[in-house]
Amino acid sequence: MTAETLLDVKNLSTHFRTRLGVIKAVDNVSFVLHEGETLGLVGESGCGKSVTALSIMRLVPSPPGRIVAGKIIFRGQDLLTMSEQEVRNVRGRDIGMIFQEPMTSLNPVLTIGRQLREPLELHLGMTKNQALRKSTELLQLVGMPDPETRLNSFPHQISGGQRQRVMIAMALSCEPTLLIADEATSALDVTIQAQILEIIKDLTDRIGTAVIIITHNLGVVARYADTVNVMYAGRIRETGSLDSVYKDPKHPYTVGLLNSVPTLDLDADARLEPIRGEIPNLADLPPGCAFVDRCDYAVQRCQEEDPELVEVGDLHYGACWEHERVARNLPGVTV
Ligand SMILES: Nc1ncnc2c1ncn2[C@@H]1O[C@H](COP(=O)(O)OP(=O)(O)OP(=O)(O)O)[C@@H](O)[C@H]1O
Ligand SMILES: [Mg+2]
Repeated sequence: MTAETLLDVKNLSTHFRTRLGVIKAVDNVSFVLHEGETLGLVGESGCGKSVTALSIMRLVPSPPGRIVAGKIIFRGQDLLTMSEQEVRNVRGRDIGMIFQEPMTSLNPVLTIGRQLREPLELHLGMTKNQALRKSTELLQLVGMPDPETRLNSFPHQISGGQRQRVMIAMALSCEPTLLIADEATSALDVTIQAQILEIIKDLTDRIGTAVIIITHNLGVVARYADTVNVMYAGRIRETGSLDSVYKDPKHPYTVGLLNSVPTLDLDADARLEPIRGEIPNLADLPPGCAFVDRCDYAVQRCQEEDPELVEVGDLHYGACWEHERVARNLPGVTV
């Protein structure tokens, strides 16, 4: 890979202090994203995807949350040691984010126009008129019907799909070098999802923006991502190029995810198998591998020792003691 490193997340841990104990939402997560690259972040609900994104944006709600360890090096600078003011300058200008829940990030009492103009005036020093013109242009780019009129609307006056478009326009308005799209389309119907994903792809390709795409939809990742991080219970359990992870998975959890979604195999007769069991309590993880109770490949060692990521192929890493058996598709055979 010749592209420059854009984001280097090192040993990031983000915890929440709750009545039930300390939830290790993100636990010792490391990954690298290069300029212009698209990384897919996948895993079941509650595995720490959004908290990873919020940590990068320094928007973890605190209390109860706290980034307890790690570095987030963005263009050579650690976001975690920056002042609030410095981070505010990065946020919205260099890093754009489309949040999982649009209504929590759009201000209900401000018009769309006002919310679009603000980063343009703040970060790019545009005058009000320049920002207005640019806002109209942005709404056009994201396929908003009648953009001039829409600038005067409030968030509740437009549809969910339109709000999502506004969020995309806002996130990309300052032409960021990194876009984090957290379930950017999952609340929408399928045809609109596809349209919006294509718009994101067109715009980010044009600007050369790197993207972290967070989704439950492995098909979306297959279509857009270069590399994939599979998260489970707050940790990355497998990572590598799209091809290596999807075609040659080395972690039983990845195998389970791939078997449980209808998106990759277009064969209508293909049997879907949900992963049995449930995700463990993040406040009370077992001493060994967090996936052990759901795993068809588990051996005694998995109960006792938590595996680290090890190289399982070319730039391909997996955290499983039994990755060789997984690769040979030999579940249930204990060695
Ligand atoms: N504000 C909070 N207070 C307490 N716990 C939290 C808070 N936000 C997140 N968590 C916990 O952190 C863990 C990871 O949550 P996160 O939102 O990152 O999951 P996710 O992978 O984004 O899931 P989903 O696919 O449902 O969006 C969960 O156990 C969640 O309950
Ligand atoms: Mg989430």
